[in-house]
Amino acid sequence: MREAQETGSGLGETLVWKLDDISADFGKVLRDLTRYEPGNELPEGFVHSEYRWLVEGSEYLGRVSIRYSLNDRLREFGGHIGYEIRPSARRKGYGTLILRLALERARELGIDPVLVTCDVDNFGSRGVIEANGGELEGEFEVPQYHDQPIRRYWIRQP
Ligand SMILES: CC(C)(COP(=O)(O)OP(=O)(O)OC[C@H]1O[C@@H](n2cnc3c(N)ncnc32)[C@H](O)[C@@H]1OP(=O)(O)O)[C@@H](O)C(=O)NCCC(=O)NCCS
Repeated sequence: MREAQETGSGLGETLVWKLDDISADFGKVLRDLTRYEPGNELPEGFVHSEYRWLVEGSEYLGRVSIRYSLNDRLREFGGHIGYEIRPSARRKGYGTLILRLALERARELGIDPVLVTCDVDNFGSRGVIEANGGELEGEFEVPQYHDQPIRRYWIRQP
């Protein structure tokens, strides 16, 4: 988390986590990661989702969120799957791997087709999505949700 906050691109959910909170109660952080899983009551406007980490041995490499369904906002911006690779592990294929593994999990959950969105100028994420068979729906402005133009891709499950 520290690495992402110090050297990251400015994109990614780990940027909003507070390092002090993580050190103070790591167990709570882990419990919070499961709070939108089925069986839990959802806050207004949320869908069920799960959170996974990509690790190698004991090293954290990245994280992925899998949303089980789309609401109006996620259909416009966000999609079913969001991911982030730690800065020191980028450009080694892990982004492509984490989306591939998330697609396998999404398939188990019956999610098909899968919507993935990214900023038009996020070439790393475009590469990840296209390497996983993403078909471009188009480029869109979504001012009510995001201040950058985005691309929407659909991935059909095998
Ligand atoms: C986007 C991100 C997940 C890519 O992860 P990664 O591990 O570097 O991706 P990969 O190594 O699998 O690269 C996939 C492809 O994109 C290309 N690529 C990766 N980063 C790139 C960059 N910064 N600029 C241009 N191309 C890039 C790679 O060359 C590769 O293409 P290739 O197979 O033709 O060589 C990572 O940069 C990241 O975590 N960014 C911050 C969070 C974020 O943007 N998440 C996605 C939100 S939609």
